[in-house]
Amino acid sequence: MKKLIVGNWKMNLSIRQSLVLADRLEINIEKPTADIVVCPNFISLHAVSHELKESKIKVGAQNINNNDDGAFTGEISGPMLKGLAKYCIVGHSERRVNFGEDDEQISLKVSAAIRNGLTPVLCVGENLNQRHEGLAKRTVLDQLAEDLSELTIKEVSKVVIAYEPVWAIGTGESAEPYDVEQMINCIHKFLINKYQSEIARKIRILYGGSVNSDNALSYLNAEFCGGLLVGGASLNYRQFSKICQL
Ligand code: PGA
Repeated sequence: MKKLIVGNWKMNLSIRQSLVLADRLEINIEKPTADIVVCPNFISLHAVSHELKESKIKVGAQNINNNDDGAFTGEISGPMLKGLAKYCIVGHSERRVNFGEDDEQISLKVSAAIRNGLTPVLCVGENLNQRHEGLAKRTVLDQLAEDLSELTIKEVSKVVIAYEPVWAIGTGESAEPYDVEQMINCIHKFLINKYQSEIARKIRILYGGSVNSDNALSYLNAEFCGGLLVGGASLNYRQFSKICQL
């Protein structure tokens, strides 16, 4: 299966700046070796989606409300994203930590994405304490079990999973490729046991956390690694273009 590279632009860039970045990526990514997705902020999503309409670069949202409509001030729902985004990041650790999203809520968001024809990029990962206490695998598997609990087996096969150790996000402190490979293997085995190997084979498992154009290949080469979720380096068109053409 082709690898997937997702750029998470987070709460950065004006509409104009987002369009400039989208344009530069479109020009510089001539021979992509992977499927590519960029996730602009909600304000820029419409413009970027329009700009990249005919492009090999697909567009994703950074969040989704679990309801399809209603009195949820400031929120964005799945039906609103239809036609604008093909992917949606769900359960990013910045949302878990800063906005109190728990696994129950995240499971409903994953379900909302699937219901509305979006591919959820479900983020899981342990924090530093959990890692030090030897609870990294337990934490990630517990998150996965609950976050996928609303889906049928068939729906699970449509999910993308991103393993993002919280301590490696935005810190410049990337995880050791060997450790990442171990965790991805563990997730893969969990999926085989809980669902079927046929389903597990269809699910791309990405790594994310301080990925840049220098270390990207070391993760992409890990067994069962289905691609990368890139934050900071995705705002730099040279770096991101390079990662997409490794
Ligand atoms: P980072 O972010 O690459 O800046 O560490 C990754 C992410 O938040 O998905």
